[in-house]
Amino acid sequence: MRNWIRFPAAQGTHSKQAHADFPPEGVYEREIGRSGFFGPATHLHHKHPPTSWIAWEGELRPRAFDLNQLGGTATANPFQAPIILKNAHCQYRLWRCCEPMLSLARNADGDDLLFIHDGGGELFCDYGHLVVGKGDYVLLPRSTMWRLVPDSPMTILMIEATNEAYQLPEKGIVGAQAIFDPAVLQTPQINAAFIAQQDEEKWQVIIKRHNKLSVVTYPFNPLDAIGWHGEVCVVKLNWRDIRPLMSHRYHLPPSAHTTFVAPRFVICTFVPRPIESDPGALKVPFYHNNDDYDEVLFYHEGDFFSRDNIERGMVTFHPAGFTHGPHPKALKAGMTHQKAFTDEVAVMLDTRDALEVTDAGSSVEDPGYVYSWCNRDEENNE
Ligand SMILES: [Fe+2]
Repeated sequence: MRNWIRFPAAQGTHSKQAHADFPPEGVYEREIGRSGFFGPATHLHHKHPPTSWIAWEGELRPRAFDLNQLGGTATANPFQAPIILKNAHCQYRLWRCCEPMLSLARNADGDDLLFIHDGGGELFCDYGHLVVGKGDYVLLPRSTMWRLVPDSPMTILMIEATNEAYQLPEKGIVGAQAIFDPAVLQTPQINAAFIAQQDEEKWQVIIKRHNKLSVVTYPFNPLDAIGWHGEVCVVKLNWRDIRPLMSHRYHLPPSAHTTFVAPRFVICTFVPRPIESDPGALKVPFYHNNDDYDEVLFYHEGDFFSRDNIERGMVTFHPAGFTHGPHPKALKAGMTHQKAFTDEVAVMLDTRDALEVTDAGSSVEDPGYVYSWCNRDEENNE
């Protein structure tokens, strides 16, 4: 346990409750938070939105990438899919899989988490056969042998927990069955489809280790299990099985939506949910600097209620070091409670260590994103 210097202190005009019952209208709350949303925090009340900059120089900035523009780069091998962001603890790729994989894949560098953005098909792996489709997370334990047979072109977000394993988050006072019951996780089956694909043909396994590929050839299909028992297994979770925590009186932090954790990052899922209804409650994500984490959001479906001009298949990247928060139009819509429900589905990656944008990421960057909060007219209207 870390022994933070923490005691409640206050100055000037302020509310007692974070994210609710602000001082007079036209005041903008900013959260300064440590250790993601788990550590000590302070809430400041500002006269201007902290995102209302008018110029920005230097490398650090909010960034957005339109991964739809990478759509043409289908690869037979997932390890050749372009990496968008990376650090020593994770790799964040977008993979287009349009044809049945002719080789097996095996990632010896760490667990892989797939999120299926588009398309669907069949997964064959060490543990059997699993039908996978849009909106599924598929967690592949390190060194699982697997292949996909798409029945429609698949677009997959692929996040490697380098040298590590994914686990479930601590659910604390709401208990293990909240958000999703572990019983909704689906696992592959040794079924007729799996047995039918077992053959005596030559098969190759592409193994990734230390980011280098090796190829092992067998004179038979090594997905030849006739049964298994145990605790290590591929698991599937669809976002539709997530029942999000929410409060009608308090805007919960992103950490309430944590789905998977690795030692140096977390994966959160934002799924459709009611927007706060209490008159005093904040109704859009609060301005904050999450000073210990880089934040990455992939937009899967729906209307992204805190963002203007963001489409499905896009990624926003807000590195630590500055304050971010809702776009002006979204803020205005939230303040006037124009929506009672959000239908957004988004996957968030929050990393404890700085992420590096790759050339593939930079190639589809929207250079104007840093100025997308510059909507003075919207602010003046409030
Ligand atoms: Fe954030």
